[in-house]
Amino acid sequence: MKKQILVTGGTGYIGSHTVVELLNEGFEVIIVDNLSNSDISVLENIEKITGVKPAFEKLDLSEALQTENLFEKYRDIDAIIHFAAFKAVGESVEKPLDYYSNNLGSLLNLLSCMNKYKVSNVVFSSSCTVYGQPDKLPVTEETLRREAESPYGNTKKVCEDILQDSVAAYRNLKGIALRYFNPIGAHKSALIGELPVGIPINLVPFITQTAAGVRKELKVFGNDYATSDGSAIRDYINVVDLAKAHVVAVDRLINTNNKHDYEVFNLGTGRGLSVLELVETFQKVNDLKLNYSIVERREGDIEKIYADTTYANAELGWKATETLEDTLLSAWNWEKNVRNIK
Ligand code: NAD
Ligand code: WQD
Repeated sequence: MKKQILVTGGTGYIGSHTVVELLNEGFEVIIVDNLSNSDISVLENIEKITGVKPAFEKLDLSEALQTENLFEKYRDIDAIIHFAAFKAVGESVEKPLDYYSNNLGSLLNLLSCMNKYKVSNVVFSSSCTVYGQPDKLPVTEETLRREAESPYGNTKKVCEDILQDSVAAYRNLKGIALRYFNPIGAHKSALIGELPVGIPINLVPFITQTAAGVRKELKVFGNDYATSDGSAIRDYINVVDLAKAHVVAVDRLINTNNKHDYEVFNLGTGRGLSVLELVETFQKVNDLKLNYSIVERREGDIEKIYADTTYANAELGWKATETLEDTLLSAWNWEKNVRNIK
C-alpha cells in the first residue's frame, strides 16, 4: 500500500515542489492549506507535472476544531510535513501576535492531534534564521542558536523546542527539523514557483520581477560588508533540491530503524554567494541586463551565513546538485511564464 503523507502548506512555494517530488516517488499526498498565501491553481499545475491530483483540504490549522476534523477524516496518515506558517520577517515585527498565533497554534494543534490519533512522524520547516549571525562559518547543526532577531525567527526557534519536548515526552512520536538556508528557483516545467503577494521581500523574486519590468530597479542592500565585493553572503539552495530532502526525511522517519527521536539537519549547498555574484550570474545565464543600484544596508540583515552540509549529506545521503546557473534560469522561466513573456 502507498504511504500517505499529509503536507500542510502544500500549495505554497516549498510545499508544492515537495508534493511533486513525493508524487514522483509514489507517495499518496493529502494537501492542507488555507490559501492565505497561495493559489488553488497550483493543484492543477501539480497534476500537469505529475499526472496525479492530490487530495486537497482547505482549512486553517490554527483552528483546533478544523484540525481535529482533518484527523477524523484521514485515519491512515504515515507522516506529516509541516510547511504551513506565516513567513514575512518584517510583517512579523508589526503583527507579532498573528505570527505567534498562526505558527505556534498550527504546530500545537497538529502535535495534539498526532498524539491523539497515533500519527508518529513529522518533518518541520525550520530556518537558518535560528542561528542569527554566527561567530564561526560555515554553520553546523551544533552551532548555538541565537536570540531571534524577529518574532518570525522566534516562532521557528520556539516551534523547534515544542517539537523536541513533545518527541521526548510522547512515545512513538518522531520528528525532524530541517533548517533551510535560502531557497530559490522553480520547477523546470515553469508550472510552479514562488509567487509572492505584493512587493517581494526576498532577493530572487525581486530580481525576476525587475527583469520582467514589474519593478523599476533592484536595490542591493549594502556594499560595505566585510566580504570580497562588499555585498552580503548567503547560501542559496535550489527549491527542487530542497524538496527532495523532504522525501528523504520522510523515508527516514517511516522506514528506517534509526534510534533518533528528534533530529536537526541544515539544508544548504555549503557555498556562500554574495548578492552581487548572484545578480551577475542571473544576468549572464539569462542574457539580460538588470537595472540595479547599491543602497544602504537593510536593517536586521546579517553579513554572511552559509551551511556546513557535511552532516546532512552523510546522514541523509542527500546533496544539493542543481547548479546556480540552472537555478537562476528556472527562476526567470517561471517569472516569464507568470507574466506571459515570450
Ligand atoms: P509559503 O507562504 O509559500 O507557503 C506556506 C503555505 O502555508 C501557504 O500556502 C499558506 O497559505 C499556508 N498556510 C499558512 N498558514 C496556514 C494555516 N494556519 N493553515 C493552513 N495553511 C496555512 O511559504 P514557503 O516559502 O513555501 O515556506 C514554507 C515553510 O518553510 C514555512 O514554514 C517557512 O517559514 C519555512 N521557511 C521558508 C523559507 C523561505 O525562504 N521560503 C526559509 C526557511 C524556512
Ligand atoms: C538575501 C540577500 C539582502 C532583497 C530571509 C529570512 C530568513 C529566511 C530566508 C525564512 C540579503 C539582499 C534582498 C533586495 C537585496 N526565511 N537583498 N535586495 O534576508 O537572507 O533571509 O529569507 O525562514 O528567515 O530573513 O533573504 O532573500 O531577503 O535576502 O540586496 O531587494 O539579498 O540584503 O543580503 P534573507 P532575502
